[in-house]
Amino acid sequence: MSSMEHILHWGEGQSFSYDPQRTLYQNLMDRGVWTGDAPCGGKGTCGKCKVIVEGGNLPPLTERELRSLTPHERERGYRLACLLRTEGEVTLSLRRGEEGALIQQDHFSLEGGDPPLKALILTIPPASLEDQRDTLTALREEAARGGFDHLDFPFSLIAPLPCRTGEEALRLTLLILNGRVVAVKPAPAQGEPPLYGGVVDLGTTTVVLYLVDLNRGEVVDTVAAMNGQRARGGDVISRIEYAEQGEDNRREMGNIIGSQLARMADEIAIRQGFRADLFLICGNPSMIHLLAGLNPSGIARAPFAPLISETLFLKGGDLFLPGYEETPLILPACLSGYIGSDILAGVLFTGMESREEHTLLLDLGTNGELVLGNREGLLACSCAAGPAFEGANISAGMAGVAGAVSHVEWEGEEYSYKTIASEPAVGLCGTGIIDVMALLLEKGIVDETGRFLEEEELADLPEDLRARLVTDGNGDRAFLVAPHITFTQRDVREVQMARAAIAGAVTTLLRERGISLEDVSRVYLAGGFGFWLREVSAIRIGLIPGACAGRVEVVGNSSGKGGILMALDRHKLARAEELRREISYLELSCHRDYQNDYIMAMTFPEGGEIPLG
Ligand code: FES
Repeated sequence: MSSMEHILHWGEGQSFSYDPQRTLYQNLMDRGVWTGDAPCGGKGTCGKCKVIVEGGNLPPLTERELRSLTPHERERGYRLACLLRTEGEVTLSLRRGEEGALIQQDHFSLEGGDPPLKALILTIPPASLEDQRDTLTALREEAARGGFDHLDFPFSLIAPLPCRTGEEALRLTLLILNGRVVAVKPAPAQGEPPLYGGVVDLGTTTVVLYLVDLNRGEVVDTVAAMNGQRARGGDVISRIEYAEQGEDNRREMGNIIGSQLARMADEIAIRQGFRADLFLICGNPSMIHLLAGLNPSGIARAPFAPLISETLFLKGGDLFLPGYEETPLILPACLSGYIGSDILAGVLFTGMESREEHTLLLDLGTNGELVLGNREGLLACSCAAGPAFEGANISAGMAGVAGAVSHVEWEGEEYSYKTIASEPAVGLCGTGIIDVMALLLEKGIVDETGRFLEEEELADLPEDLRARLVTDGNGDRAFLVAPHITFTQRDVREVQMARAAIAGAVTTLLRERGISLEDVSRVYLAGGFGFWLREVSAIRIGLIPGACAGRVEVVGNSSGKGGILMALDRHKLARAEELRREISYLELSCHRDYQNDYIMAMTFPEGGEIPLG
């Protein structure tokens, strides 16, 4: 037996001994320290768990690695962590940019005025022989005078209450949520007590936490990060499969995201000097189940029935938020197994449920969710678009962090690209993917069927573009977007399927609703693209119908913004609960027309010369 020491160095100063029988990815997961991508959950199929490996006794590259890693990556020592077993001392690091903070693109404040979390200042007079009421009774009676009758007062908040004395009046602030006292604090010397809400957009790929001043409606601070659960799979289904394997796995998933949210909230608290008094978390139903440690099995297979969808008033301790056990927490209503509180938040933010004219909400995240209609009624559906527009299935795809190519341009017969934060290019994020696809179609490098043309078919191609036609590691045709970053034939197919899923769903929804695109006055485009998405590129690839040109409004993170509205206004929160019953859900997986609409949408639209600059 070898006496060799197996030491793994990872991240900033983390070192531990590892099990050489397990892959490096498994070792990092066992420790709970893996922070990279692993969309396939470590099955060796996605090619995304790229790490730079130094040291160790390394086996030769596998077939899969040869296919996933570019020659440049191989040269630099990249390997796939989920396929690699080694021994000895080894140092691993992630691809640069993978761990970078997500760049936030939205700055805003919203109007509220009647938050569900109330602060009630009470003054309890000193006790006397004529007034021997106990503190709790006195509090209840004063609260009733302030309009809050029959408050539920949990025992955990009674024990720390001060006793009434004959000397001083007690001045306390009760924080009240949904008829229940959730915190008791000293009253401020003057004025209203500050109230802050931590509103979370819990996405499958990214998580954003906004700290909102609930008195003023201002977003005070924001923090964003990649969802830590992606280490257990990039898509919803892999994570559900993992959680289905037992209570321990469900607890682990809840812990991963709960601790991450607590860390994000701490980060803001340290920066601002105060903590959130309330959390309100919007997300798709799977993410909400996995946050709560609930069994998401029902969502994964027909008839796709979730365990919960009503509005829940909880506290951090009911979930897995360390350090926030007593902080009240709201999970707003979801609609179905695939339409969550994130989409209902988007409906509220856009106001489409109260408009006379028809509008369409298109939320492009890891899935595609759509809502169509007006105040007479709304129809929603979800389509399996996959995470291509979040970069997950794209060979050089990545999140919108520093170094991601966010735009490509063709202007004055010259090709150029831009990266986030002007860092050297390390991959392609959603807007970059859409821009590249649009350029390839517009210049005829890829035809409407999604086929890369042969070089001899491209006789008229400008030299600047011709020089970018390359071959990928599989011998397939590809386009060199930036040094060492290619967009391949396989990537084109991924985009083609994703946009067909969405375009097909738009067609099916319109038919069900009995209206045409001309009747749609506005298309709200939501998702992580923020305001960087170019309408012209989205139309060129057929993600948005050409007939809607000029009527597209990029609304950014409508889930987060709608969540903020609910935290600022209890009527909006209640409205989300009503929408749960009012919006009709169209199940596309068994819809008679959808399959056909999807196939019809597989062909990219034909274009004219459009300015992509
Ligand atoms: S190939 Fe390693 S996680 Fe997917």
